Amino acid sequence: MNSNQLKQLLSNMTIEEKIGQMVQLAGEFYKEEDSENTGPMHEMNLSAGKMATIGSVLGISGAQTLIAIQKEHLAKSRLGIPLLFMADVIHGYRTIFPISLGMACAWDPNLIEESAAIAAKEAAVSGLHVTFAPMVDLVRDARWGRVMESTGEDPYLNQLYARAFVKGYQGKNLATDKFSIAACIKHFAGYGAPVAGREYNTVELSERTLRDMYLPAYQAGIDEGSKLVMTAFNSLDGVPATANKRLMRDILRKEFGFEGVLISDWAAVGEMIPHGIAENLKEAGKLAIEAGVDIEMMTGAYLNYLNELIDEGEIAETLIDEAVWRVLTLKNDLGLFEDPYRGANSAEEKAIVFSQEHREKARGMAEESMVLLKNKEQILPLSIHQKVALIVPEGQAKDVLGAWSWKGQQNESVSLYEGLLQHIPKESIVLKTIADAQKEIKADWLADLADVDIIVAVVGESSYMSGEGASRSNIKLPSEQIQLIKKLRTLDKPIVATLFNGRPLDLTDIIQDVDSILEAWFPGTEAGSAVANLLYGKKNPSGKLTMSFPRAVGQVPLYYNQDNTGRPLTALNQEDKFLSRYLDVDNSPLFPFGYGLSYTYFKYSPMEVTLTRSPKSQEDEVRIEVMITNSGKLAGTEVVQLYIRDKVGKVVRPIKELKRFKKVSLEPSESTIVAFNLNKLDFEYTHQDLSVSVESGEFDLMIGPNSEELEINTVYLTFKKSE
Ligand code: GLC
Repeated sequence: MNSNQLKQLLSNMTIEEKIGQMVQLAGEFYKEEDSENTGPMHEMNLSAGKMATIGSVLGISGAQTLIAIQKEHLAKSRLGIPLLFMADVIHGYRTIFPISLGMACAWDPNLIEESAAIAAKEAAVSGLHVTFAPMVDLVRDARWGRVMESTGEDPYLNQLYARAFVKGYQGKNLATDKFSIAACIKHFAGYGAPVAGREYNTVELSERTLRDMYLPAYQAGIDEGSKLVMTAFNSLDGVPATANKRLMRDILRKEFGFEGVLISDWAAVGEMIPHGIAENLKEAGKLAIEAGVDIEMMTGAYLNYLNELIDEGEIAETLIDEAVWRVLTLKNDLGLFEDPYRGANSAEEKAIVFSQEHREKARGMAEESMVLLKNKEQILPLSIHQKVALIVPEGQAKDVLGAWSWKGQQNESVSLYEGLLQHIPKESIVLKTIADAQKEIKADWLADLADVDIIVAVVGESSYMSGEGASRSNIKLPSEQIQLIKKLRTLDKPIVATLFNGRPLDLTDIIQDVDSILEAWFPGTEAGSAVANLLYGKKNPSGKLTMSFPRAVGQVPLYYNQDNTGRPLTALNQEDKFLSRYLDVDNSPLFPFGYGLSYTYFKYSPMEVTLTRSPKSQEDEVRIEVMITNSGKLAGTEVVQLYIRDKVGKVVRPIKELKRFKKVSLEPSESTIVAFNLNKLDFEYTHQDLSVSVESGEFDLMIGPNSEELEINTVYLTFKKSE
């Protein structure tokens, strides 16, 4: 439909039809027979007549199902406006990829884009038009359950991943590419910083920190063309995001130039009442529309009160027209007026969803996502001649998909036992489980392990312990798992801990007792195959952490790009009590941002730094070169990382900031030169008056395999004063 036709459509709509486009209902409303007197429709005070005006549905899929719902809806819609179908396709639709916090450890935006494109294809042939992804909230607090959906604690990486996800989901042209779906950047804004890591809790951030750390990834996703943004549950600066005009009108719309659809999170409009800034749903609806929320998800504020608010002159109908225009434009961008059934196709659904090709891609991504945290005396990779004890928490053998795997089926996933069988016969495996309730590991239980050569123990979290609503005050392993490791240690056999989890955990209880630790995250459908391929060295681990692992939950929020403070703890003043430190634990993480081992080793030559003064701008540009050599016996992949530090700023500056990285694969003895170029934009930051610029001065340039093992080179850089 062209713009004039769309304008004509809008002008033909009644106010009820306009308001209906601003309402999103769950799939349940379309599963029940039309009943105005019971169930969800009754609760929402929703007549059959109003049902015909609704604009979008969430949380239901399947080509046949959605074709039928769309057909029935169009038959009732006076102007034939098609429904939008939206759902949470977070890290895969039915072929499940590793959780985002795992995929991020691959340090490969192309792989992220590919995973999103596959998820989009499976979702599109299943009838979906929009995914509520990517979640691009920056995170620093491992107590918060939703860190598993994020890509970690660094703004530079999060921006690259936000772009990659949006590109993967939306493809080149939503109107013509029926295997693409619209993306939704969430949760705007700051949801990843709840006080005390407690789900849905208050967020207290200075606008300067919000702008330097949290906003960049949202803006990157919007600049990449995301068609939707979702409001966050939390309050920010005392105003719930869904009612926050500063956030939505000033920053999102004016500053970021976002013209797409702003949708509330589930029931977030109604939650203004418990937040305490609206007395009732009518007032909440007024605040939401004034903040520019175009679609309310699963509340009846717009549905039941917008018309009244207009009649009472409380809001102008132009606000409704703006919102409906954006919703109609989204439907038009998806080509729904020409083809309301778009990509929905049962035959293609059967052929494409969960295809072998997709599973192989998911396995490859899982292999790239895993992080080797420890490998004392190189007990990994395993030999196929070893007899292996595999110990798995009871009932969790296939709990490998993570908390946001919606259509993913655990019983379709590959367990680690099945993965090992791809390398060794079942006679070479002693399979044991540990029960949560297990009081103690008995002698006869241990006796079964007497003749094994090595023990692989699966530890970590169940998917229930991770994701939305899963904040934890204690991020240790479950006590029965700690007890198990202590008992296994008495057998004096090598122990490999394989972690299935959705957050950085406090591993201090087992770190000395195990010989190797492989962080596998929730690896998705191909979990067992991917883990086994790494354990047997078919793939050399190359993942690097994008979120710090603390020594104790008391350190949290913990992140690498922290400020120095006025009394920093350093290697030179460890004895001094009056420093920014704890009495009982070191300040450093157990495993730092950017950390990950390999089965081989990499040598870094001293970095070479070249400064050039741009004749045009009269400002310095920097080139850094370093030679990397694979000095081990196995082929492997290294992620070379470049950090900077602004030694003196107009506000305190982080002790280090990731600015570039390069992933290089090298054969044994092979070398390569890695070069990075930086210019003024890479050094700019937000000042107290919220202006963005950088002053001339001393800067540290740091290069290495993670955020702690760094060669430092200090330079003086000249930048022109900003007008
Ligand atoms: C949830 C989540 C959001 C999700 C939405 C729809 O509460 O906060 O991320 O997209 O509801 O399921």
